[in-house]
Amino acid sequence: MDLVTVGLRVRELAIPGARAMEAGLQRQEYRGYDSAGLAVDGDKAGEVEIFRSVGKVKALAEVINNAKINTEKVFDCHAGIAHTRWATHGQPKTVNCHPQRSDPNSEFTVVHNGIITNYREIRELLTSKGFKFESETDTEVIAKFFKYIYDSNKQHNLDFSQLAKLVIIELEGAYGLLIKSIHYQDEVVATRKGSPLLVGVKTEKKLKTDFVDVEFPDTLEELSSVPADANSNINGTANGLLIPKDNLRHSVSRAFMSDEGIPMAAEFFLASDPAAVVEHTKKVLFLEDDDIAHIYDGQLHIHRSSNEVGASTIRSIQTLEMELAEIMKGSFDHFMQKEIFEQPESVINTMRGRVDFETNTITLGGLRSYLTTIRRCRRLIMIACGTSYHSCLATRAIFEELTEIPVSVELASDFLDRRSPVFRDDTVVFVSQSGETADTILALQYCLDRGALTVGIVNSVGSSISRQTHCGVHINAGPEIGVASTKAYTSQYIALVMMALSLSDDSLSKSARRLEIIEGLKNISEQISKVLELNDSIKTMCDETLSDQKSLLLLGRGYQHATALEGALKIKEISYMHSEGVLAGELKHGVLALVDENLPIIVMATRDSLFPKVMSAVQQVVARSGNPIIICNPGDKFDPKYKTLEVPATVDCLQGLLNVIPLQLMSYWLAVRKGIDVDFPRNLAKSVTVE
Ligand code: UD1
Ligand code: F6R
Repeated sequence: MDLVTVGLRVRELAIPGARAMEAGLQRQEYRGYDSAGLAVDGDKAGEVEIFRSVGKVKALAEVINNAKINTEKVFDCHAGIAHTRWATHGQPKTVNCHPQRSDPNSEFTVVHNGIITNYREIRELLTSKGFKFESETDTEVIAKFFKYIYDSNKQHNLDFSQLAKLVIIELEGAYGLLIKSIHYQDEVVATRKGSPLLVGVKTEKKLKTDFVDVEFPDTLEELSSVPADANSNINGTANGLLIPKDNLRHSVSRAFMSDEGIPMAAEFFLASDPAAVVEHTKKVLFLEDDDIAHIYDGQLHIHRSSNEVGASTIRSIQTLEMELAEIMKGSFDHFMQKEIFEQPESVINTMRGRVDFETNTITLGGLRSYLTTIRRCRRLIMIACGTSYHSCLATRAIFEELTEIPVSVELASDFLDRRSPVFRDDTVVFVSQSGETADTILALQYCLDRGALTVGIVNSVGSSISRQTHCGVHINAGPEIGVASTKAYTSQYIALVMMALSLSDDSLSKSARRLEIIEGLKNISEQISKVLELNDSIKTMCDETLSDQKSLLLLGRGYQHATALEGALKIKEISYMHSEGVLAGELKHGVLALVDENLPIIVMATRDSLFPKVMSAVQQVVARSGNPIIICNPGDKFDPKYKTLEVPATVDCLQGLLNVIPLQLMSYWLAVRKGIDVDFPRNLAKSVTVE
């Protein structure tokens, strides 16, 4: 995921935007990024200065300082765009930093959050039109596409927002976009789809209204001169598009009119996150999907490309009450909590552009050309540490079932300690959030030396594991800041399930099972949201019954063994409470001795083929006066004296995605209750780069 922040200051500017933007970028450092950049109007008309750098915002500041631009010069009207990038397309290199440009003269410059899923098709089209690409990013296609549509429509004298409409209609995926152009000096266009974007508004005098009017097109006419291209796969390009007939600029929004009826001087700050703008202004309006915000002549205009029935005709200007620290975490107290609650969205990002729910097909671009080799391998070994290891355990059974390849799951350190034999016809999958875990990297080198095919399942693009594996899948969960891994777990889990589905897509006998799983994936985000509704009751349960305990046992079997292990790890690392995940079948082989009326026991008893066996474990616990807390599906009847937490039912192999969430919440609330700094638990680091 990429992050955007922008300072756009129009009129009565004291200092050029570069410094303000730099500060805005710094405010978003907490979100994690690997490179930064900005573009700002140059001294002369038609000139744009771009500064980019891999590393921290400090490194970018250094680049700007060395460029010896006059940062004290006063402009009447000045626009700039800036960005911190978390690599998704292409490694963190200067050439991949944003802003991306349309051509060497930087006629159009773009910063972008999100992922354009049809960038390959657009890139192909533009390459066939003679455009030369400089980067590996999906974003570069947007800048070049702007130039292409601009050049092809010169006779229409389009204004910037009309041009933007013609471009974004072709974009698929998720985006928060800011665009500037030397053809529209001092103007910026901002638009979003599925990625946050807000406008900070700063005026000297009080705003006349606390909303901005949305401008709908008056008349539409078919613009048949948008270049039709028979070879294009891009929707709409060949169809002729609708643009407003009247090309006149709309009047100033009521909000920015002074009492004398003339427009007030205003500054606008566009950002993906309020943290970037709050030091300038607390007045913000949040853009909606498909809004096109156009800032020119010191005014803000919000356009829609069509007259939707019932659409809201205003965007309210809100006053942020929060302090900076609060804003960075949104309404959450800790990053871990924020990341737990982000899961309905992060799992979608993992599947975006990869699972087609209409055709029930899976496309993992990073594995496409390796699938045949993987299918032919003698065995598949999954190697990881900690939480990432648990995601392997959670998906091992479905891998074996769908691919019919024997799968072993290994802890990286143990695998190395044993100097386990590895052969050329093995496929080894390395799972890591950070992509920098030393144990996993060493195991990877060990397997590379022995000639095995290596596959990475990694969150950080450009990380060592992502670069050193032959192929792989980026889980696209976005940066994970909290030391306890939460959203990375659910996304790794889904990435591994997608890999198993991909490997088995040639098998007719597995097609019904595959369909069932894809259907499950379709609903998973919504179901995760449903589980998150348990938050309050879990907090109460932690406060009332669990927090005074010394120890906790988690029982599961089959698919839920991994959930029990992951829940126990979360609880011990964050709340420092001793907890153990136990395979329910092993209870009678020793662990039962621990059970008494005090020890809390959480049992994963959602419905799958092993349900009766899990229930027999519950009976064993109850017979020894134990008090189980049961994670079950709605409608399942248990003795009313047991506590239950109901989670929605899904396919057996995906149920762990839902069952783990109450455990994440439990570890969180137990830690908060003990006053532990949840995001930085003692003795632990986010990325373990030592053996
Ligand atoms: C690419 C985009 C992705 C977008 C999709 C849409 C990149 C980095 N990703 O994803 O954001 O949603 O197109 O079409 O451009 N790789 C490894 N080891 C790893 C992980 C990945 O070698 O651990 C390799 C892959 O084999 C591939 C490249 O890195 O060559 C990108 O991987 P991934 O992001 O998963 O590829 P796509 O799903 O095609
Ligand atoms: C637990 C946790 C760790 C990591 C482990 C591997 O919450 O975060 O157990 O899962 O250190 O790290 P990655 O996935 O970065 O290789």
